Amino acid sequence: MLQSTSALLLVASLLAALPVNADGLYAKKSGVLQLDQKGYNKLIAHSNYSSIVEFYAPWCGHCQNLKPAYEKAAKNLDGLAKVAAVNCDDDANKPFCGQMGIQGFPTLKIVTPSKKPGKPRVEDYQGPRTAKGIVDAVVDKIPNHVKRVTDKNLDEWLAEDEESPKAILFTEKGTTSALIRAVGIEFLGSIRVAQIRNMEVEAVEKFGVTEFPSLVLLPGNGQDPVIYDGELKKGPIIEFLSQAASPNPDPAPTKAKASEKPKPSEPSESEATTEGSPKPLVPVKAPLSAPAIETLATAEALEAACLAPKSGTCVLAFLPQSGEPDVEIAGHAKDALESLAEVSHKHVQRKTKLFPLYNIPAGNTASKTLRAELGLSEDTQTVDIVALNARRGWWRQYDPSAGADYGVTRIEAWIDAIRLGEGSRNKLPEGVIVTKEEFEKKAEHDEL
Ligand SMILES: *[C@@H]1O[C@H](CO)[C@@H](O)[C@H](O)[C@H]1NC(C)=O
Repeated sequence: MLQSTSALLLVASLLAALPVNADGLYAKKSGVLQLDQKGYNKLIAHSNYSSIVEFYAPWCGHCQNLKPAYEKAAKNLDGLAKVAAVNCDDDANKPFCGQMGIQGFPTLKIVTPSKKPGKPRVEDYQGPRTAKGIVDAVVDKIPNHVKRVTDKNLDEWLAEDEESPKAILFTEKGTTSALIRAVGIEFLGSIRVAQIRNMEVEAVEKFGVTEFPSLVLLPGNGQDPVIYDGELKKGPIIEFLSQAASPNPDPAPTKAKASEKPKPSEPSESEATTEGSPKPLVPVKAPLSAPAIETLATAEALEAACLAPKSGTCVLAFLPQSGEPDVEIAGHAKDALESLAEVSHKHVQRKTKLFPLYNIPAGNTASKTLRAELGLSEDTQTVDIVALNARRGWWRQYDPSAGADYGVTRIEAWIDAIRLGEGSRNKLPEGVIVTKEEFEKKAEHDEL
């Protein structure tokens, strides 16, 4: 028994050592899209559809248990939403899974397009790990571009963008089905879709509708309306509507390179700012535009943000004492602040969650006390970066190494390790955290 288990383990580890996606959980025909970061950006982040994405590791038992339900969800959501999976055990995907804040497997995230292309809303799915639970939650998030009209405003809607094609669903329902929402998404930007209820008699008579549901296409350019009489399924409906306009290609075709060229003023600006550094021009966006991290100038602000009994993880950069304000924020402290700003900005851009990062100037009266309590160097000429979590009672310090490295790469790796719960932590000394009573007293005062 033992022997066969270890033999199995051996086989498993040999399989795990195979390169690329050979060891992913999902087969192509499962309906679950297997994605890497590039695929995610293209097919999920830039989609007009909602998606659910599972971040998993093939060896994880809960992931294997989820597989049948997830595949079933993929079948039921076919054509309505995207169902995808990212294998976080694949080395190539590890940085991506880290960026997405994945801390355990499986993690399911629902991704919904926002107004800004490529910047979707991402939220954790915490519901039951059943096909129905997943399907219901995702259907709920399918964007609705279908306009609900009545006899009163039908003419107004028809007059909007008069020449372009439109489709109207006549229905007995007051809700907008997943199917018609999907149709709206498919033709977003080309065919406007509306729905109208059976009791809106003028409209029903105007288009000679006798059955519900009925779909009517107004092809535009003065052509007569056409009533659809095919199957009420997405494929045939799309085909029918395609006589008026083409559905959106997915993924969207990459734009001509010319439109991506930076404006003439930009290159010189970036050259000036990255002067002397051999940074390539491509990943230039973060360093150039990263806004500074927030400063907590007073003891109260620091307590409220990070030292209250329920405060979550905070990263604090204790700045060195300086004679002349501003002038001396140079050297390591400046590097540290810039690196932290850059890391924070990256997360904002990717819409991934990150705990807050704060700048604690030496003038903050709590700075010296907290430094002493944590046993940080008395030498306030250095910058010290610590992470602490009041609720869980731990803290840890950034180690810049012998080379005093406050560059973004090292700091980002440190922050990522905290996000992934890696590395050792120290117990927060007593007295650092404000007690509940003290805190509530303060909160009361704050109300005035
Ligand atoms: C998303 O919708 C826009 C219209 O708002 C369209 O131009 C684009 O092609 C669509 N993208 C995809 C991937 O379908």
